[in-house]
Amino acid sequence: MAAAPTLSFSKTLEADAPVLVVLVDPDNKAGVMGSTVLDQLTGGLDRAVAATGFSGKAGSFLDVLAPAGLTVGRLILVGTGAAVEFDDKAALKLGGQVYGKLKEIKAKAATVILEMAAGTFTPELGAEFLLGLRLRAYEFDKYKTVKKDDAPGPVAVTIVAEHAGKLKKAWAETEAVAEGVVIARDLVHEAPNALGPQEFAAEAEKLKKLGVDVEVLGEKDLRKIGMGALLAVAQGSVRPPRVVVMKWNGGKSDERPAVFIGKGLVFDSGGISIKPAAGMEDMKADMGGAAAVTGLFRALAGRKAKVNAIGILGIVENMPDGGSYRPGDILTSLSGQTIEVVNTDAEGRLVLADVLTYAADRFKPAFMINLATLTGAIVVALGAQIAGLFSNDDQLAGDLVKAGEDTGERLWRMPMGPEYDKLIDSRFADMKNSGGRNAGSITAAQFLKRFVGETPWAHLDIAGTAMSSPETDINKAWASGFGVRLLDRLVRNRFES
Ligand code: BES
Ligand code: MN
Ligand code: ZN
Repeated sequence: MAAAPTLSFSKTLEADAPVLVVLVDPDNKAGVMGSTVLDQLTGGLDRAVAATGFSGKAGSFLDVLAPAGLTVGRLILVGTGAAVEFDDKAALKLGGQVYGKLKEIKAKAATVILEMAAGTFTPELGAEFLLGLRLRAYEFDKYKTVKKDDAPGPVAVTIVAEHAGKLKKAWAETEAVAEGVVIARDLVHEAPNALGPQEFAAEAEKLKKLGVDVEVLGEKDLRKIGMGALLAVAQGSVRPPRVVVMKWNGGKSDERPAVFIGKGLVFDSGGISIKPAAGMEDMKADMGGAAAVTGLFRALAGRKAKVNAIGILGIVENMPDGGSYRPGDILTSLSGQTIEVVNTDAEGRLVLADVLTYAADRFKPAFMINLATLTGAIVVALGAQIAGLFSNDDQLAGDLVKAGEDTGERLWRMPMGPEYDKLIDSRFADMKNSGGRNAGSITAAQFLKRFVGETPWAHLDIAGTAMSSPETDINKAWASGFGVRLLDRLVRNRFES
């Protein structure tokens, strides 16, 4: 994990910062404090602006070395774009861009004046800016024994803001979300030899110190409960499965819980229906759903969210072995429904089936949302940019899409219906675990739907968005931590505002 920038907050600008960052609008206007700095520039900005054509468009930079008239070593103007378009997504992005610049110039310390030319840089926007800063700084380098020789170490960032005190408070909450995303990314990056079901459960147990109640069910417990589908997937691995139940009780005692469920395949070889060798190493990330749910609980507990939430992780390894389950096997799920296995690589839905049944029976949820790197087909459909959303509830689906737009972790609702459902009918059992290539993400969702009963439910297929992530302003790493910010926002929108 890369060094997070160290932050300090101040209401006033101290002279002599080695690097000073001032935000300007498209007319190159700064706020009150920034303007006093710019006014001290001998000869003003005109020559630099004329030479570069700089105007404070969102994400643009003007880097002035040894600025005449100032004591700072370097003045960096950063464009915010127009004030009317500066929402929290823009602030998040800007934070990432500013960190990128500080890294590029190998800054060891910098001062950032957080103010707008017009309007106020609210503490909430400031916290999003810092979230962007923090997430952009993330790197997974724990296995690099030779560190890059230009590694600058943590950059010390001083934030100067009118409402420094309120910003510090807002950041204390948002920092919990940042930590949640970091945990999710770390878990997804972690090598599968180091992160088996037991180790994953131990990571979740670390949340106890934040007040999360964590219960770990082992193989014996799962057999007693009757999770026949989950156990079948696990039986080819020497590392026995775990189901982790996390509880955060921040809401009223009579409020039904929101339930979040994560697919946690610590490694998915495909089992007897083994995957091709090329790219199989990526299947260490087949626990991206469970990682996001773990990160979400870090966030909820860290900021003491006013919600009753349950997180359930189905943590299993899918391996080929003499003891593996096989195509043709007929499993009895916890729900009592029988499943013909036609492909042992369609394992995630088997794990989720039992966890969904368990969640609905035990917790009587207000709603349940599962996150899963479930199908290659969703990557074909939506790529790495947007996750697939499947739901039996328009309200829940709408709230999720909204939270996605709010955070930039976007969702696209996919169709479901009886014409797809019948594709997983089986000749020999109640259903089969694959409907074949066509509409592969939809038939996978139809499979899950057979285990949710009447509970409002949504399934997020994050196979494209959790791993092999495109580089963005707030992420340069392979794993994005997709889902943590999204679901934290859903909770805020639905229970806390
Ligand atoms: N874990 C995979 C899906 C996946 C693919 C995740 C690519 C991330 C990137 C899942 O268990 C799987 O193997 N699904 C199969 C289902 C098929 C056998 C019906 C698939 O998508 O090919
Ligand atoms: Mn698989
Ligand atoms: Zn899988």
